[in-house]
Amino acid sequence: MSTSAPAKARSIPQLVAQKGETPIVCLTAYTHNMARLLDAQVDLLLVGDSLGMVLYGLDSTLGVTLDMMIAHGGAVVRGASHACIVVDMPFGSYQESPEVAFRNAARVMSETGCAAVKIEGGAAMAETVTYLTERGVPVLGHVGLMPQAVHSLGGYRARGRSDEEARKIAADAHAIADAGAFGIVLEGVLEPLAREITAEIPIPTIGIGASPACDGQILVTEDVVGLFSEFTPKFVKRYAELGTPLSEAVRAYAEDVKARRFPADEHCFGVAKK
Ligand code: KIV
Repeated sequence: MSTSAPAKARSIPQLVAQKGETPIVCLTAYTHNMARLLDAQVDLLLVGDSLGMVLYGLDSTLGVTLDMMIAHGGAVVRGASHACIVVDMPFGSYQESPEVAFRNAARVMSETGCAAVKIEGGAAMAETVTYLTERGVPVLGHVGLMPQAVHSLGGYRARGRSDEEARKIAADAHAIADAGAFGIVLEGVLEPLAREITAEIPIPTIGIGASPACDGQILVTEDVVGLFSEFTPKFVKRYAELGTPLSEAVRAYAEDVKARRFPADEHCFGVAKK
C-alpha cells in the first residue's frame, strides 16, 4: 500500500486567487494519456468541445454530444491529479433552460468527477449561470468568439473590432461575472478590449487569442505540439512538431513489418535464446 499522501488537485478558489498574481496555465486534454502527460505542468485542463474537430474530424463543434463529453471528461479526470478539470457543455445541452442545463451539468459532474463546466454565451446565459452556481455547479464562462455560435457570428474571425461589438462583449463578460461564474474564457478578442475586461471584472479571464493582458492563457494542445494541422489560427504558437516524428516512427514500423524485421526474437514468446 502506498504511504504517500494523494496529490491535491488545484481548486477553484485557488484559481480565482491567482487573478492579478500568477498567470493561470491552461490547456485542453481529451484523453487519459494526454491528461497524464500535461497534468503536472498546468493549473487547469479543459475537456473542450474542440475535440469534435481535433479527434472526430467534424467541421465544427456543433455535432459534439453530451455522451462524447462525458466519455472524454471521465478519461481526463482519471488521468490527472494536480490540474483542475473543466468540461465543456456541448451545443444544445444548456441553452434551452436553466433546468435543462442543470440536469445535463449534473450528469457531467457526477459521471466524470470534473470540478466545473464551461458554457458559451453572454448576458442571455446569465440566468443559467446563476442557477447552476447556486446549485453547486461551478461555471467557467466563454465570451467573444464563441465557436458554438459560428453560424450566427458568421465565422471564426476575431471579435470586438467595432465599438458596438466591443461594448456587447464587455457587457456579456460583466453579466457572466455578476451571475457567479468563477472565470471567463475570452476568445479571439482585440487586446485593448481584453485588457479592459480583465481590469474591470473581479474573476480571472483566460485568453485564447486575447493577448497577455488576460489572467491566464489556454490553447488546444494538439495545436501547440503540431498534432492538428488542418488549420492553425494566428494566435497559436507551435512549441513542437510531433506530427513529423510520429509519421517517421510509423514509416519505420511499416518497413520493418514488410521486411520481416519486426517482430524480432525478443518480442516473441517461446523462442529459444541463441
Ligand atoms: O473547446 C475548446 O477547446 C475551447 C477552448 C480552446 C477555449 O473552448
